[in-house]
Amino acid sequence: MTPVIETIDLSRGYGSVPALQSLSLSVPEGTVCALLGPNGAGKTTAVRILATLDRPDSGSARICGFDVVEQAGQVRRRIGLAGQHAALDDALNGRDNLFILGLMHHLGRRRAGARADELLERFGLAEAAGRLVRTWSGGMRRRLDLIASLITEPPVLFLDEPTTGLDPRSRNEIHSTITDLARSGSTVLLTTQYLEEADRLADDVMIIDSGREIAHGTPAQLKDLLGARVEVLVETAGLLSGAAATLTGLGGRELVTDAESGRISATVPTGSLSLPGLVRHFDDRGIALLDAEVRRPSLDEVFLNLTGGSR
Ligand SMILES: Nc1ncnc2c1ncn2[C@@H]1O[C@H](COP(=O)(O)OP(=O)(O)O)[C@@H](O)[C@H]1O
Ligand SMILES: [Mg+2]
Repeated sequence: MTPVIETIDLSRGYGSVPALQSLSLSVPEGTVCALLGPNGAGKTTAVRILATLDRPDSGSARICGFDVVEQAGQVRRRIGLAGQHAALDDALNGRDNLFILGLMHHLGRRRAGARADELLERFGLAEAAGRLVRTWSGGMRRRLDLIASLITEPPVLFLDEPTTGLDPRSRNEIHSTITDLARSGSTVLLTTQYLEEADRLADDVMIIDSGREIAHGTPAQLKDLLGARVEVLVETAGLLSGAAATLTGLGGRELVTDAESGRISATVPTGSLSLPGLVRHFDDRGIALLDAEVRRPSLDEVFLNLTGGSR
């Protein structure tokens, strides 16, 4: 099946700054892909090219099979874009914002009105719809901006940092909205600086830094990349060296020993290492444990590890 969003070796520089370097991305229909990276990683550059607002220096990109440069009109008819900076008119109420946007997209008064009401209802903003947007909370405004990108019912959505700067509660609301969108069959490319957001929302995550792919996979695959952190508590200090040898034998690295408490921890290469499996390794060597823990890394830790802490 042809991917809905596809980039091949996409590159774009600004002067001497390589904003995007050979980015190749493929997003199947009905899935959510997160482009994850720190400030300046190239996320907005990628979104702008895909949304036909900018052109690549080299490489190509297609949306629903249409080339973003050669067939920009066809692409525009199929996409919605919600940015980090809400494109709303503060001096209008919520409904009028959507209504006018509908008129701008040639929906006609009746359809524009109906579409505005339908979206406000569906995303829980009907009650506030008559109030000036100026009086809305940050989270509500961002939600309105997000649903504004849906006015023409585009099959493909670009959400550029939809939750940056929002409080946790508003962020949660946006998350549910995005989940709803994905369920309704939209294909979503989302950019974010938040690892837990990519973890929660995306089927597929591409981590970029300096415009370049650093890692790519499902959230679970990315966590596996880093392995698991194992910590054990031995019964007596005399068992510590044996415990260290056991962990090293399992491929453990970054060993940290606390002789006083009898704790020793290490990163082991497999994320699927189970706690019972681990305990058995120690048991086989006659090393009595008082406690053992296997912890999978958060996507945050994966990110810091892969980017060398450049965030
Ligand atoms: N219009 C521009 N002119 C010059 N440099 C730019 C421009 N847009 C982006 N850049 C640079 O390109 C890099 C990527 O920027 P951007 O795509 O906005 O990153 P992100 O959205 O991930 O924060 C940054 O170093 C940024 O300073
Ligand atoms: Mg950006």
